[in-house]
Amino acid sequence: MNVVSLCRSPAAEMAIIALSISLGIIVLGTGWGSKVTAYHSLCKLEKRTADCSRKRLGSVPADLPAATEELFLDANIIQILKNASLVSYQVLQSLSLRENGLELIEPGAFLSSRSLTSLSVANNGLSVNYSVTATAIWTLTALRKLDLSGNQLTEDMVVTMIQHLSSLESLSLARNAIMRLDHSHFQNLLQLQDLDLQQNYIFEIESGTFDGLRVLQQLNLAYNYMPCIVEFDLTQLRVLNVSNNLIEWFLAVEDDIAFELETLDLSHNWLLFFPLLPKQNKLQTLLLMHNQMSFYGDLFNHSESKVQLLFLDGNITNITTFNLWEENNHGNLSSLSFLDMSWNQVRYLPDRFFEGKAFLTHLNISHNCLESLHVQRWEWLNTLTDLDLSYNQLSDLQVNLSSGGTLPNLQWFNLSTNRLHGLPAKLFTHTTKITTVDLSNNPIKICGSHVDVNGAASPDCIDVHNAGSLKNLFLASCDLAMLGNHVFWGTSLAHLDLSNNPNVQLGSLVPLQDVAQSLQVLSLRNTSLSAAKTTMDFSIFQKLVNLDLSENALVSFPESLIGLRLHTLDLRKNGLHTLPQHAMQKQLGRSLHVIYLSQNPYDCCRLGWWDALHSLGTIHIADWKQVTCNYSSKFISAANLPESVLQDCKWLTADMMWVYLVLFLPTCFALLVAFVIVFLTFRQRILQMVKSRYKRSSSHGLWGAGKTQVTEPKEWVLAEWES
Ligand SMILES: *[C@@H]1O[C@H](CO)[C@@H](O)[C@H](O)[C@H]1NC(C)=O
Ligand SMILES: *[C@@H]1O[C@H](CO)[C@@H](O)[C@H](O)[C@H]1NC(C)=O
Ligand SMILES: *[C@@H]1O[C@H](CO)[C@@H](O)[C@H](O)[C@H]1NC(C)=O
Ligand SMILES: *[C@@H]1O[C@H](CO)[C@@H](O)[C@H](O)[C@H]1NC(C)=O
Ligand SMILES: *[C@@H]1O[C@H](CO)[C@@H](O)[C@H](O)[C@H]1NC(C)=O
Ligand SMILES: *[C@@H]1O[C@H](CO)[C@@H](O)[C@H](O)[C@H]1NC(C)=O
Ligand SMILES: *[C@@H]1O[C@H](CO)[C@@H](O)[C@H](O)[C@H]1NC(C)=O
Repeated sequence: MNVVSLCRSPAAEMAIIALSISLGIIVLGTGWGSKVTAYHSLCKLEKRTADCSRKRLGSVPADLPAATEELFLDANIIQILKNASLVSYQVLQSLSLRENGLELIEPGAFLSSRSLTSLSVANNGLSVNYSVTATAIWTLTALRKLDLSGNQLTEDMVVTMIQHLSSLESLSLARNAIMRLDHSHFQNLLQLQDLDLQQNYIFEIESGTFDGLRVLQQLNLAYNYMPCIVEFDLTQLRVLNVSNNLIEWFLAVEDDIAFELETLDLSHNWLLFFPLLPKQNKLQTLLLMHNQMSFYGDLFNHSESKVQLLFLDGNITNITTFNLWEENNHGNLSSLSFLDMSWNQVRYLPDRFFEGKAFLTHLNISHNCLESLHVQRWEWLNTLTDLDLSYNQLSDLQVNLSSGGTLPNLQWFNLSTNRLHGLPAKLFTHTTKITTVDLSNNPIKICGSHVDVNGAASPDCIDVHNAGSLKNLFLASCDLAMLGNHVFWGTSLAHLDLSNNPNVQLGSLVPLQDVAQSLQVLSLRNTSLSAAKTTMDFSIFQKLVNLDLSENALVSFPESLIGLRLHTLDLRKNGLHTLPQHAMQKQLGRSLHVIYLSQNPYDCCRLGWWDALHSLGTIHIADWKQVTCNYSSKFISAANLPESVLQDCKWLTADMMWVYLVLFLPTCFALLVAFVIVFLTFRQRILQMVKSRYKRSSSHGLWGAGKTQVTEPKEWVLAEWES
């Protein structure tokens, strides 16, 4: 017996293993294996979370683990959340019922869910039975986070629903039908920190509306219809987002109270003036892009620069006079680090505009109407790292380098699309951290290599000599004339864009030699390159990974590219008839990932390279659908070359053989006939000549006896042929 029990039969062993596996599954299924993902028939269970989203459920499943703390039921079809739905989930903390077409929550639905802290019922139809639903929501005494967005709720419905939720910390009412707000709407939300009201129809917020929200930190009013914000007094607020409204005025209360405001988004509004910010604030980010802002001080004398504002509040009219363009009205912006004023109407910056902005790192004034920029004291901008002045009408940029301001931290300077002819001399000697300069679309000149060492370069050109930190230089569409041979000397540019400068005349690339060792990205698009005129040698550009040679007049593939480690090569819009088939068998073929080839007059009958490129399989022809070839002056897609063309190409090559043959044969025949006639006419003489020659030549080497033996049969043969 012992023996038998020790040596179980294999079948019994299998049964025991199977039993233990099924036991394991049971343990996992009921006991929340804390690491392993378990599976319910419909829902995904993980830790204490059950995800039953997108299962076309009409009600809450009743067979989930009782210990479920987080339940997702999004995108189902639960129209009514019934009284007993959640009764088995007593420890539920978070419930999400987004996008269900939910119209009613029965009053007792949450009675068993005392610990629910987070409820999302976004994108449903709760406006239908809002008063009944409200009684259900009131029972959630521990609720901290409520998302009611996208439910077509009006402000009155909202009040009914939220009025007793004093524990709420975060409330989203986005995408509803709220139009105006007053102090009755958010009375009891003493804990509320985050209120989202974006995408409603709010055109009026009475003063005092947010007074009860003592700890409110973030308020989002984006995408509403607010015409102005006056007497802004929410001192406790840290983030205010009123972007995408119709705001013409932003006025904070004129007071010396300290505001906590750190981020103010006023972008995409109709602001006419720089906002009148709280005098004492902690603003770090101020977003004013896409408005109508300008400064008007230059149009008025100081006495006239006051504006009177009429506040109509019920039947009280209050007239306040502001001096709009006095810099001290711009508030104390000593903590500001990010200021975006792009897409406005700014024509000039007031003299002391930058005063006190001691922490400014990012400044964007692009897409404005600046004509000149004379910053008196650039030392205010010593912390600046990014400066964007692109898309203005700047023809004059003055930096007073002697006063100590040198933009020592500037890294990124965008001046593209202005009217600059040059930059202040020696600018780059001071900006020692600068890496990127965009001067595209300016009528600039690059100073020649002969610039005076004392910095006497004229402001009519740009001197990048010795700008050692400069890595990325954009000079596209600058109408550059011929470059000196050493204009980039002393720099180690990695990215250079010279595109759209058809008069730049790079010839054999000599002006680029000083940066050939460091360049990684080079754009020579539309620079009138033609391989015919010069022999372009790219072989010294060993670090190059991205090269754009498009829109030039190349008729042959530059052979020197074959040894480079390019990743991307652009050859569009040139005059290439074919590509050398061996090109891709060398280094270039191994490193290349992307190539652009379209708009070249390739010969349809010489597309061997095209097939070779495809068969390589490692190179992505980014524009392969657009690649066409020339077949008797018709351009057809190289990717879908019709069979008939392929046949014709074969015929064409075969035909050529016949043509050669037909041309060659008569010529040979004529030559032969001519030869025979000549021979016949001068037969005697020629024979004699041959004979005498033979005699003479053979007399040296051959014995006399051989003479007759050799010549006689020859004469006989000729005679025979004659007759
Ligand atoms: C749901 O529960 C509430 C409160 O317990 C009760 O008043 C209501 O009648 C119930 N509704 C239904 C449909 O059972
Ligand atoms: C303000 O809200 C809009 C809309 O939601 C958003 O795109 C933008 O990023 C917000 N601004 C800030 C500073 O968060
Ligand atoms: C500003 O004041 C001066 C003298 O007080 C006057 O000559 C000038 O015309 C005024 N300019 C404007 C724009 O009113
Ligand atoms: C507004 O006017 C009415 C009568 O015209 C008056 O009774 C009421 O007190 C006024 N309200 C204020 C705030 O002055
Ligand atoms: C008018 O506005 C000023 C400043 O905003 C305020 O000090 C003053 O009390 C207001 N007067 C009335 C009648 O509301
Ligand atoms: C400079 O700004 C323009 C538009 O404002 C943008 O298109 C361009 O990419 C910027 N240049 C760099 C180097 O980022
Ligand atoms: C296309 O090929 C024809 C000869 O087949 C040639 O005459 C013509 O110049 C070519 N067109 C272009 C744009 O190269």
